[in-house]
Amino acid sequence: MFFWQDFRHQIISLKGCISVEELLALIKEKQATFAKAPFFEYLRDTKINPSDRMAFAPCFAFFVMSFSELNRHVLRVEPTTEPIQALVNQHTYEDEDHWIWFLEDLKKLGYDESIKFTESLRFLWSDETRIQREVVRWMFQEAESATAIHRVILIESIESTADIFLEATQAIAQELKIIDGRDCRYFGDMHTIVDSSHTMYTDDSQKFLNSLSITPEERQEALRIIDKTFDMFVILMSDLLAHIKVPKTINGNFMYSYELRSYLVRKVKPLGTYLIEAGLLTYDQLNIALQEQKVTGQCLGDIISSHGWVQSETIEYLMEKIVKPEREAALAHPSENAPSIDNEPILIGR
Ligand SMILES: [Fe+2]
Repeated sequence: MFFWQDFRHQIISLKGCISVEELLALIKEKQATFAKAPFFEYLRDTKINPSDRMAFAPCFAFFVMSFSELNRHVLRVEPTTEPIQALVNQHTYEDEDHWIWFLEDLKKLGYDESIKFTESLRFLWSDETRIQREVVRWMFQEAESATAIHRVILIESIESTADIFLEATQAIAQELKIIDGRDCRYFGDMHTIVDSSHTMYTDDSQKFLNSLSITPEERQEALRIIDKTFDMFVILMSDLLAHIKVPKTINGNFMYSYELRSYLVRKVKPLGTYLIEAGLLTYDQLNIALQEQKVTGQCLGDIISSHGWVQSETIEYLMEKIVKPEREAALAHPSENAPSIDNEPILIGR
C-alpha cells in the first residue's frame, strides 16, 4: 500500500535522510510549553465558577465553524493516490463535524437565547472576533499552499493544541455535569475520546509517519509551520482569555450572556437586577434562576429563595418597599427609563 512512500524514502535516504519522527517529537515539546498559557491556568482554576470559565465559548464560534470548512475544502484533496494525502483526507472526514457538538454546547451553556439574526452577524464579524478571523485566514492560507507532508505537520500541530484545550474544558464540563446535569459534548469527554481515536493516531499511522523521511528544505518548512502554528494558537488562546477577563459593562454590570444582558437592560428594572445591585445575588445565580424560570415558569423570587440564595422575606420586603414603587414611577415616565437593547453595543462573555 505504501510502495510509493517506501520508494521515496529510499531516494531521500540516499540524499541524506531526516526523519519526520524528529518533527513529531518537537511538536510534543512545544505542546508542553503551550499547556502553560495563562488561558489554561484560568480554565483550571477551580476557585472560579465553572460557568465563568466557559464564558469564552460564544467568542470561539467563528473559529469552530471555520475549522469544519478547513477540513472539507482546504485540507482534503480528492481524488488522491498519494498515501500521505490519503491519511490527511481520512482525518478531515473524521474531524469535520465537531461543530455540531459545539452548537449543542452553546445551547447547554445558555448562549442560545433570542438574538436577532443581524445582531449575531454583526457579532461574528465584529472586533470581538477579529483575532479569531485572522487565525482562520492564516490556517486556510497555510493549508492551501502546503504539500501533503506539511499538511500532516500542520494537523499534528493544531491537534496537539486542541488536546491541551480539551483537557482543560473537559474538567470544567465534568464540574457542570455534577452541578446541574449539563452534558457538554464539544467541551466534554466525547470530543476528547473521538479526537484521540483518529486514524492519524493509530499505531500503524504513527509508525508510518515516523518512518517518513524528508529533505532538509522540507524539514525547514515543517519547522516554520510548527513554530507559526504554536505562535498563532497562543494568540488565539490569549484572545479567548481577554474575552473572559476584560469586563464588558452596561450600567456597571458585567455581562455573561445575551439572555442576562437582555434581562438587565429591560426598560422596567426586574427583581434580579435589584438583588445583584444590593449584593444579595451573583450573576451566576441569576443566570441559573433565569434558566430554571424558562423551564418551570415559576416566579423568579420563588426560585431564588428555594435555592437559599436570598430569604423569601427579604425578597418580599424588597418588592414592596423598593421594586414596586420604582416600577410604578418608571412606567409613569417611560422616557427616563433604562436604555433599549437595540441601542446597546454587542456584548457577550465577560
Ligand atoms: Fe475535533
